[in-house]
Amino acid sequence: MTGAANYRDVIAEVCTTIRNTLPHPVNLNAEGAAAIAMAYGEVFAEHFLPWMRHADQSAVSTTAKEATGDNIRCEERDDHPGMLHAFVAPIAAAATPDAKRWAEATIRTVQPTIARLTELSQIAPCGIHLMALLENTSVDFIAWMYPGIVNKFADANQTYLDVHGVADQAHADAFVSAFEAERGRVGWRNEIEETTALTIRLLTDIFTAHRHVPSVSKVA
Ligand SMILES: [Fe+2]
Repeated sequence: MTGAANYRDVIAEVCTTIRNTLPHPVNLNAEGAAAIAMAYGEVFAEHFLPWMRHADQSAVSTTAKEATGDNIRCEERDDHPGMLHAFVAPIAAAATPDAKRWAEATIRTVQPTIARLTELSQIAPCGIHLMALLENTSVDFIAWMYPGIVNKFADANQTYLDVHGVADQAHADAFVSAFEAERGRVGWRNEIEETTALTIRLLTDIFTAHRHVPSVSKVA
């Protein structure tokens, strides 16, 4: 992305990249789906709200502050981390040893990405950019989680998906406006492109968790 690039085009390109990364639901068995759900749950339950708070604290524009403020209130009032836990915990409890190993390998793999994104989330306008990327890509990956994950588990708790599927297009649009307001105040920084690349890497690693082979795997 250059300083003059249309932000909606940048976001659309990242969304396409993530859509193409999501495994075809038919080719993903329950074991692989469980690995993805566990990796996703661990990363998002632990980091999403702190990143949103960093974005809120680093934001300089009123438009961005309103977007982050609304989102934080909604996350806390409706207990989104609790909904995510209710979605993932039963899947994790029934997960096979392989599924657990793939999820653990993924969590280890993404640690440096998460550490850097945590730093970037505290720098305007990168915190808002990170939120815009996650909110916009989530429109696709939350929809994917029905055939990709929940339909593979009887009695799965899909409240987390139902809530985010309904709300997220509005949130996604709000964060595009928020980023444009931040850019108007802060200007261009090279860390914006780094934030884009690391967000793509994080989501790609999570949604290919079923292909993460632990480093101590046997050699043929
Ligand atoms: Fe949420």
